[in-house]
Amino acid sequence: MVRFYKEPAVPLEFHRVKMVQKLNLLPLGQRLEVLRRAGYNSYRMQAADVFLDMLTDSGTNAMSDRQFAAMMNADDAYAGCTSFTRLETAVQDVIGKRYVIPSHQGRAAEHTLFTALLKPGDIVLMNYHFGSSVRQVGLAGGSHIEVLNRETAFQTASDCPFKGNVDLALLEETIRRHGAEHIPFIRMEASTNLIGGQPFSLANLREVRRMADRYGIRIILDATLLAENAYVVTRREEEWRGKSLRETLRAFCDLADIVYFSARKLGFGKGAVIATGSEEDKHKMDEVVAVYEGFINYGGMSTKEIEAIAVGLYEAVDEEYTSQSVEFIRYFVEEAVKRGIPMVTPPGILGAHIDASKFCDHLNYSDLPATGICVGLYLAGGIRVMDGGTGAEAFTDPTLKADMELVRIAFPRRVFTLSQTMFCLDRLEWLYDHRRLIGAMTFDDQPLMNRSFFSPLKPVGDWVERLAEQFRADFGESR
Ligand code: F0G
Repeated sequence: MVRFYKEPAVPLEFHRVKMVQKLNLLPLGQRLEVLRRAGYNSYRMQAADVFLDMLTDSGTNAMSDRQFAAMMNADDAYAGCTSFTRLETAVQDVIGKRYVIPSHQGRAAEHTLFTALLKPGDIVLMNYHFGSSVRQVGLAGGSHIEVLNRETAFQTASDCPFKGNVDLALLEETIRRHGAEHIPFIRMEASTNLIGGQPFSLANLREVRRMADRYGIRIILDATLLAENAYVVTRREEEWRGKSLRETLRAFCDLADIVYFSARKLGFGKGAVIATGSEEDKHKMDEVVAVYEGFINYGGMSTKEIEAIAVGLYEAVDEEYTSQSVEFIRYFVEEAVKRGIPMVTPPGILGAHIDASKFCDHLNYSDLPATGICVGLYLAGGIRVMDGGTGAEAFTDPTLKADMELVRIAFPRRVFTLSQTMFCLDRLEWLYDHRRLIGAMTFDDQPLMNRSFFSPLKPVGDWVERLAEQFRADFGESR
């Protein structure tokens, strides 16, 4: 971080605004109306009704002038297109694998991978699950087992620098119990998304590699959030302190057999990439891509997106780019903790995460506290965030309890300014001061079989109106 003379140091942007999009901060009455219309579900809101859209960092990152310039250079050939050759070169250069398989987005890459390389009955070990990855393993007839240390990983207020690490004893025991012949892969997810964007260390991956070699198992690296994981390693892991981001990211990739990523996050475009050193694997995956995605030179992406990723990959290993979201998140979390707000610590990657169970310690998990906080933050400031708790998991099984009750305040890369960040923090503090007003949420009388991600919810009682009255009392006519 750059030092300041007298002012307290804040994260400094290494980019300037070149194009802008107007935002609307609707007055309180209209925000209440939006909540009602949207069935109190963030995914049902219109983006135009949102002031700060902090739902996700997927496909919402700012792109650079160089990316836009490259997009104008796209070559729309069906086969042998020059844009794909440029992507291949960038992947070979940055990720270090020879063969490049394109897909239209991350979950499609997972579909390609597991359709081509998994047999029914196989078990995939993972440090932790991600929704799309376990679904794809399941559709291919496999199952998954998680091998991180649950006690460490789920402890929200912590100083453990690498909560995404694999528990090596558990890994070995799991391999022995199920037999290596049934375990084709260990899937390592960088910056483990659903436990609060928590990284794993290179030392841990090296040990996992050793064990994988001993048992003849391959490693698949989900590199969607790898740039930030590698950035944190250069700050938190002694051996890598002071090393370049590019070298550190490459060290992760070199320890994996297959690397894949959603370019909606890494590379700041749309689409996804799988990279492997195995020609045999490439041929198997090409077959799937050709049937489900598109020709093997574009895999469902437009050539403009392919050009943007080719440039974005180099930007991702530029420390001054990748530091931006990580340092903003760190600043936000540290400031929130100073104000007594229960956050996931150490600060994660991709977003700042609230511990909803502690924030709303007057509610039970079945009251969907994380959902209530999402409603509260929209009401407080037109801020849209993601429910990462039981409310998000209980769509199809009301008895389901999430491993953690989190609210994710995503920080798309290079999108929000420091004053917008401070506004979010201020409104979060206001909500925290009035947290006892947050009540229970419930599904809006949907028959279970009709429930989905987009299901409407409703507050139990009139707590949303009472929270709005409190807002009026504190903010008067101000939005
Ligand atoms: N892997 C990780 C670690 C992810 O975070 C995501 C998406 C995917 C795979 C799937 O990629 O969306 O391109 O199909 N995460 C988004 C999020 C959805 O909001 O965190 P995709």
